[in-house]
Amino acid sequence: MKSLSVAVIGLRFGSSHLKGVIENGASVRYICDINPDLLKTVGDENGIPEEKRTVNWLDVVNCPEVNTVILATPDMTHREQVVALLDAGKHVLCEKPLALVKEDLDAIVAATKRNPTSKFMVGQICRFTPAFVKAKELIDAGRVGELYFVESEYAHDYAKMYRDNPKHWRLDPKRHGVVGGGCHAVDLLRWLVGEDPYEVHAYGTHKMLPMLTYDDSTISIMKFPGNVMGKVFVSTGCKRGYTMRTCVYGTKGTLIFDNKNPTMTFFEVNTEGVTEEHTIEIDINNHNAADEFRAFADCIINDTPVAMSVYEGAKTVAACLAIVESSEKGGEVINPNYDFA
Ligand SMILES: NC(=O)c1ccc[n+]([C@@H]2O[C@H](COP(=O)([O-])OP(=O)(O)OC[C@H]3O[C@@H](n4cnc5c(N)ncnc54)[C@H](O)[C@@H]3O)[C@@H](O)[C@H]2O)c1
Repeated sequence: MKSLSVAVIGLRFGSSHLKGVIENGASVRYICDINPDLLKTVGDENGIPEEKRTVNWLDVVNCPEVNTVILATPDMTHREQVVALLDAGKHVLCEKPLALVKEDLDAIVAATKRNPTSKFMVGQICRFTPAFVKAKELIDAGRVGELYFVESEYAHDYAKMYRDNPKHWRLDPKRHGVVGGGCHAVDLLRWLVGEDPYEVHAYGTHKMLPMLTYDDSTISIMKFPGNVMGKVFVSTGCKRGYTMRTCVYGTKGTLIFDNKNPTMTFFEVNTEGVTEEHTIEIDINNHNAADEFRAFADCIINDTPVAMSVYEGAKTVAACLAIVESSEKGGEVINPNYDFA
């Protein structure tokens, strides 16, 4: 990975990306955050010298030595920064959600088309979570049979974060919980099924987080091609620990797992037609930034297509936007718009 000269912009969640870069032996050219205290703390913790620290992300854009950038700034800044970085010829790994509104998705897709030699990956990190990787392997190997129902959730209590900082950017009305955090669960279902939901309808409630201008809890039902039903529950005010409990139902078996459980349950129909219950040991690694970076770096070094392409990120957000629209319209059926400029 010596040929990669990496910059990480945004050092709160980005600090776990920085560790992933260092673990993989790539060289760090810049770390960047507008918060000088955080810049110092993360720089000192990771042994990054002063001359490789900056509070100005344009230093990264303008630095010819930087060829690879990880962007972990607030969702609403992704568009401006991704477009500038791609137009400057950098490879970019951008945190999820790709963007919050359709116009920004279009602008980012257009920038990737304009810069075909730059690799772009969206950081849907759940695709590297061990339980989810194992589920995908079993589905793709045919062990679960033909899928007919998949369900997941994003249950994560944001109450403390909002109490501590009533001006938090996550309170922006455009940052609906379904798009901001729920995109993990929607992306997981899209990935496991290998198809895009073409119809969604949803309902929301607002009992837990009065400071929000939008619903804190939403339930959505969706149809995938191949007669697969889907369901996603999102709550950013629930009183419980963070979890993404997931069930996958197929004609040959059922998988039950989540991102916080050291075991996965697999009910599998054996050759005599009897359903057996297996327990599969799973590592817990909810933010597997090291594997995510390795996958991105491999695509750059070997010039291979990026698995989590700009379209993967954009389609996941488009499905989330359809859920939000449906819940705001009291459950009207909405077809996600997957046409990008
Ligand atoms: N994949 C995941 O599971 C996961 C988890 C958390 C956050 N995220 C995503 O990561 C991104 C960052 O989230 P976070 O929780 O770290 O947010 P945060 O607000 O805690 O931290 C963002 C950091 O970016 C810095 N920043 C803001 N604007 C900047 C700019 N113009 N230039 C340089 N630095 C800037 C801030 O000072 C802050 O330190 C978001 O897109 C979020 O949705 C993903």
